[in-house]
Amino acid sequence: MYSCLILFILILFSSFGVGWLDNICSIVPKDPYIAVGSNATIVCRSSCVPGEVFWTLNDKLVDGSLSQRIENSSDTVLQLRNFNYERATLLCHSVNNQQVLRGTTIRTFTRPRKLSCILHSENYRTLQGLPDKFTCSWEHHSNSSLKINYTVLLISPDSEQKKLCESHATNCTTKYVNGVDKNISLLESSTVIVRAETTAWQAESDPYNFDPLHILKIIPRKVHVTAFSDHLLVKWNQLERGELGPCQVKYRKAFGEETPEVVDIEALNITIKNVESCTDYHVSVRCALKHAPWSNWSQEKTVRTKLRKRDVNLHLWRTVSEPENSGVRNVHVMWKANLSRCEGTFNYTVKLMPPSEAMYGVNYASTLCENSSCDITVDQHAHRIILTIFHDDAVLAQGSFYVPAIAESFPQVTDIQTFNLNRSFLVMWRSVPDVTGYMIHWTHDGNDYHWKESKFSNATLFDLLDKTPYNMTVTPLFADKIGHGTQVSQICSRVGDPGNVTITTVQTYDRSAQVSWNIKSQEVCSGVVVNYTIFYGTQLVPEFNVTVDSARESIVLKNLDPNTQYRVQVKATGPTGTTTSNERLFETKRFDPGLIIVLSISGSIIIILILSLGLCCGIQWKKFNEKPVPNPGLSSVALWPSTGTQKGTCALYPFSNPSESICERVYTEEPLETPTPPPPATTECNPNVNPVSNQTEDITDPGSVAASDPQCETQADTAETPQPSSPGENTALLPVEGSPFNPYRSQNAVEISATKTSRQRLLPMKPQTVYVTLDMFEQRR
Ligand SMILES: *[C@@H]1O[C@H](CO)[C@@H](O)[C@H](O)[C@H]1NC(C)=O
Ligand SMILES: *[C@@H]1O[C@H](CO)[C@@H](O)[C@H](O)[C@H]1NC(C)=O
Ligand SMILES: *[C@@H]1O[C@H](CO)[C@@H](O)[C@H](O)[C@H]1NC(C)=O
Ligand SMILES: *[C@@H]1O[C@H](CO)[C@@H](O)[C@H](O)[C@H]1NC(C)=O
Ligand SMILES: *[C@@H]1O[C@H](CO)[C@@H](O)[C@H](O)[C@H]1NC(C)=O
Ligand SMILES: *[C@@H]1O[C@H](CO)[C@@H](O)[C@H](O)[C@H]1NC(C)=O
Ligand SMILES: *[C@@H]1O[C@H](CO)[C@@H](O)[C@H](O)[C@H]1NC(C)=O
Ligand SMILES: *[C@@H]1O[C@H](CO)[C@@H](O)[C@H](O)[C@H]1NC(C)=O
Ligand SMILES: *[C@@H]1O[C@H](CO)[C@@H](O)[C@H](O)[C@H]1NC(C)=O
Ligand SMILES: *[C@@H]1O[C@H](CO)[C@@H](O)[C@H](O)[C@H]1NC(C)=O
Ligand SMILES: *[C@@H]1O[C@H](CO)[C@@H](O)[C@H](O)[C@H]1NC(C)=O
Ligand SMILES: *[C@@H]1O[C@H](CO)[C@@H](O)[C@H](O)[C@H]1NC(C)=O
Repeated sequence: MYSCLILFILILFSSFGVGWLDNICSIVPKDPYIAVGSNATIVCRSSCVPGEVFWTLNDKLVDGSLSQRIENSSDTVLQLRNFNYERATLLCHSVNNQQVLRGTTIRTFTRPRKLSCILHSENYRTLQGLPDKFTCSWEHHSNSSLKINYTVLLISPDSEQKKLCESHATNCTTKYVNGVDKNISLLESSTVIVRAETTAWQAESDPYNFDPLHILKIIPRKVHVTAFSDHLLVKWNQLERGELGPCQVKYRKAFGEETPEVVDIEALNITIKNVESCTDYHVSVRCALKHAPWSNWSQEKTVRTKLRKRDVNLHLWRTVSEPENSGVRNVHVMWKANLSRCEGTFNYTVKLMPPSEAMYGVNYASTLCENSSCDITVDQHAHRIILTIFHDDAVLAQGSFYVPAIAESFPQVTDIQTFNLNRSFLVMWRSVPDVTGYMIHWTHDGNDYHWKESKFSNATLFDLLDKTPYNMTVTPLFADKIGHGTQVSQICSRVGDPGNVTITTVQTYDRSAQVSWNIKSQEVCSGVVVNYTIFYGTQLVPEFNVTVDSARESIVLKNLDPNTQYRVQVKATGPTGTTTSNERLFETKRFDPGLIIVLSISGSIIIILILSLGLCCGIQWKKFNEKPVPNPGLSSVALWPSTGTQKGTCALYPFSNPSESICERVYTEEPLETPTPPPPATTECNPNVNPVSNQTEDITDPGSVAASDPQCETQADTAETPQPSSPGENTALLPVEGSPFNPYRSQNAVEISATKTSRQRLLPMKPQTVYVTLDMFEQRR
């Protein structure tokens, strides 16, 4: 049964299978790698379709002349010449139905190029300077992700290939053992190639042929440098074997950016002239065999040239202070000499002498100085000052200058003008006749001076500190004398930004705000403000701005929204820059504070009015309710003590109630003919003011005034004593006193009657005195 089935399948396969396989289309070779620039041959097998085929390369039609149909077969051969694509897609199409039959990707690879090799040694201790390494390097560009193995092969005369070294980089090194390699002889020329290998392709470089002596890179020479005051002697060693070819000597100053000098020489030593004294030089040497590559540069040697007297460059100057009253002046002598790197001991002395004396007279005492300056006092006369530099106790250099007498008159420069350039100054002044030049000196701190001579009436000063005030002095120089200097003070090397701006206060209202600020410039060279710009708004970057001139230091910002947070910043603009204050936040008020004040004031007034009205009504009501009527039932009667204990105490025991500290004297009397109210108690104490007393004064003797004194005291006591009743009650009592029916009189009348007989004339009768306690008034409390 099964065998029948298998047989059937076999029959099927044999009857159709062969024809089916014949009908498969294909491209050969499939996805090839070819060397870039080479010819590629591709075959399209189009047995699956009848008829011709055509090709496209990267979607472009390929010229039909490049393709050829093989007779009696379905194969079409395409010849691609000089193929340069890195990667290309080639498709085979049927002419009948335009369909793509098959496709392939063609990739290219490159060959290693520029192979070169050297024999060298990195090891100074190599035996006899022979090389211990053979290194080849080449170029090879590959974008392929395939890993490339490189092999350097030595090709012997009989075309035998010997592997020298392997690498994944574009170089590789073969180590010599003891300066000898069994493959490479130093005496015969040889040929090497490099082979690049990947899983997909293999490429070889062109052969590289070399003479070993021409690729021998010798080790750097041992160099010895000797420095003299005006030259350097550089020496290096010979090869152990063979002759040295050319050498190069490279030298440069240790300080500064100068490019090194390179000198070619074919010798073992060289003398380098034109060197500066007291200067460090770096020197190195490299050599080569003839036709061979340079050795590496030898290690740099550093030497310092010796001091040469004629190279000493002494720059001497002085400042002369304003004279004191006695004419004494301080001369600050300062100098620059290019000796800082010179070896040896240097001493500096200054000598002061009258200018009339022979130059460099020896009879004057000299003062030992510091390294670069010296202070010396001179009187009002003219002087010549001589600076002498000693080097190892021998005179090295000398300089002198003139200090004019105070009274000596010279033309002085005027109209000094300064112009800021970029970190430098142009200084110009009105020239003076008969000068040989001008000396300009400047300082920013009074200690560190710079000076410069100019032949013209201008000078450019460089390397100034930024935004720093400088004092500058221009002094005319005459043939053998020096004139008086003219100073300009506090000239800024550059005007900086305006000083710091600070917002001091922000006074807020509901729809406006007053912003005030101030500007602080701590530095002399801060710029002046031209105008202020106030930025404000609710956004992170304030959206409004307003500019005011520099005279203003506050502004009212209007049209703000109430109860809103604002940001404000003030920018000061100067001629050369700007400064901006910190940002300040403020919040506008919900209501206008002025309105609130008006409202609160009028509110208070209304409240006070209402309160006063209420109080008035209350008082009136109370008055109406509490009209005090003495209750005679509560009164007691007593005789006035005969002996006048009028010392002011009312502690009269018959009526005194210990619970009451208040007492009042009440007198009974006949009503007066004229019901004049008694004068106020207070006025009574001053007889001059009291009209009643005035009337009586003429007739009273002086003693009466004294006698009335105790009355005053008593009265005062009474007045001072606090009333138990309210002031309203008190005032309510007063009109009652004055009424004709009032049974109680003030002490005034009583006193008069009680004292002197002379007063009795005013009174119709001697009064009866009655004492009434306040208990009489019904207390309704
Ligand atoms: C490529 O083919 C052309 C023409 O057939 C021939 O001249 C050329 O030498 C070939 N190039 C290479 C690298 O074989
Ligand atoms: C192709 O086939 C024809 C006839 O079948 C024959 O005459 C001819 O020689 C063949 N050509 C080749 C190259 O085989
Ligand atoms: C590698 O790719 C870069 C761009 O990706 C191209 O410029 C360069 O020619 C390619 N190199 C080769 C060897 O194909
Ligand atoms: C060899 O090639 C590598 C990688 O390109 C490089 O880092 C190295 O310096 C080369 N060595 C020499 C001796 O050229
Ligand atoms: C490349 O070298 C490695 C060993 O370094 C080896 O495993 C690999 O098979 C090599 N590849 C080719 C393509 O030769
Ligand atoms: C410098 O080399 C020359 C030969 O090139 C030699 O005659 C001379 O003595 C050498 N000078 C010094 C100072 O070694
Ligand atoms: C210079 O100074 C050194 C010490 O600083 C001193 O020994 C020497 O005597 C001085 N020479 C002169 C000429 O003053
Ligand atoms: C610059 O000159 C002024 C005026 O003469 C003086 O007050 C000031 O101290 C001087 N400043 C310096 C650094 O010498
Ligand atoms: C300085 O003065 C000289 C002579 O008057 C002139 O030639 C020169 O241009 C001036 N320099 C400057 C920077 O003005
Ligand atoms: C501004 O203030 C800073 C420190 O707050 C200070 O260093 C700076 O000198 C000031 N600038 C000016 C121009 O005053
Ligand atoms: C503020 O001063 C600067 C600098 O002088 C100027 O450029 C700007 O126009 C001035 N702004 C106004 C609004 O005047
Ligand atoms: C100030 O505001 C005006 C518009 O009001 C705008 O054109 C201008 O650019 C603003 N100035 C600055 C410095 O932001």
